Amino acid sequence: MDDALIAAARRAQARAHAPYSRFKVGAALEADDGRVFAGANVENASYGLTNCAERVAVGAAVVAGARRFTRIVVVTDADPPAAPCGACRQVLAEFGAGLVVEAVGPAGRRRWTLAELLPDAFGSRDLSGSAGAPVRRSDEP
Ligand code: THU
Repeated sequence: MDDALIAAARRAQARAHAPYSRFKVGAALEADDGRVFAGANVENASYGLTNCAERVAVGAAVVAGARRFTRIVVVTDADPPAAPCGACRQVLAEFGAGLVVEAVGPAGRRRWTLAELLPDAFGSRDLSGSAGAPVRRSDEP
């Protein structure tokens, strides 16, 4: 895995707002055009409104116009390295099951595809034919 991607995730981790759990997470999401979008967990006093690092990175990418991703690195201080939570797996699955997910900790790395982490994910195809079917606009991939 690309050391630059890990370095970007570590820089983001240092900026995490995690005063409640003290569990800082950094993420670096790489788009297919090479751009890298960072995220960190942003906790809230209400606890339930906490945003995970991975979802913050996805938001930054989408706002910048990126929707096709190749890899995401998630850095924590956990050993073994912590895998993305279920909510983040679902959000990442919106953009493709082939994403390579690498978890990095102080003493090792773990690697999967998103399809391995979230088999049979719910997705837009499950909505086809229903009133909630996604509308594709010409500017969308
Ligand atoms: N967290 C993430 O940022 N990503 C995950 O995939 C798992 C959990 C954050 C949320 C919370 O701020 C802290 O880690 C402890 O759960």
